[in-house]
Amino acid sequence: AKAVKEEDKLYRYGGVLYPVILAPEENLKALEDIEARPDDVMLVAYPKCGFNWMVAVIRKIISAATGQGREDSKPPLIEFFGPEQLQHFAQAPSPRFIGTHMHPDNIPSSFTKKKTKILVIFRNPKDTAVSYYHFSNKNPVLPSAESWDMFYKDFIAGEVAWGSYFDHVLAWEKKMDDPNVLIITYEELKQDLSKGVQRVSDFFGFNLGEDTVNSIADRSTFRAMKESSHSSHGNMGSIFFRKGEVGDWKNHFSQAQSEEMDTAFEKHLAGTQLGALLNY
Ligand code: A3P
Repeated sequence: AKAVKEEDKLYRYGGVLYPVILAPEENLKALEDIEARPDDVMLVAYPKCGFNWMVAVIRKIISAATGQGREDSKPPLIEFFGPEQLQHFAQAPSPRFIGTHMHPDNIPSSFTKKKTKILVIFRNPKDTAVSYYHFSNKNPVLPSAESWDMFYKDFIAGEVAWGSYFDHVLAWEKKMDDPNVLIITYEELKQDLSKGVQRVSDFFGFNLGEDTVNSIADRSTFRAMKESSHSSHGNMGSIFFRKGEVGDWKNHFSQAQSEEMDTAFEKHLAGTQLGALLNY
């Protein structure tokens, strides 16, 4: 493979940084042409909030409810779709399952018009930053940070792939009362995965019984997913399933960084319901 300089791995589109190899400009430009369906199943998460975890859970829910769908294929991010995948997506049978890391304003408007149900995952911003730091350093399509301190600065400034986490959560908070949007947190999934699986299944209108829900939860723990990561994610598997815990930020943040983030958090999110949701 051709060596790409670290600073050339991201480019700016609409003011936000994206990875040039995964989500090139032509992909993002073509997004608005997507025709949504009311029974599409959409998953949204800022990077490192537990997207791959919920991809696995949702695939198992769809497969249990409909008897169709593979449980182990690549995460279906719409911004990674080139022309061929877009065409394939347009013709796929319902229920189609797709996801994105994009800010809600950049999600194709057809999904709102068709009232597609959207599941959104939030995670405590400090844990998200730590997870993103390790992931960026291991993923060849993202720039490696010189140090945790450097990554932390970029994260808090929103100068990372898919932009500012604060902007992302703020925009979703405005849609919390929309019946077609369900916000669930990484932390509540960690606390009671069966309950989370049941909520997600009910939200999308798949009526699964308790035994099925419990079986899906058992097969979707961090340990189970890490063990099967090679078949689900190939050689990249190990980098998607790093630690899977709540509170790892305490091993990375300095006291000053933690306080600075608290202040930034309060400034951005004051007067919203996000404090409790983000485990603050
Ligand atoms: P850590 O880096 O803190 O371990 P994403 O899929 O959005 O990229 O998020 C990745 C994060 O979710 C990683 O966090 C990963 O370990 C964690 N994760 C993945 N599967 C999980 C599971 N089944 N249970 C708990 N955490 C999981």
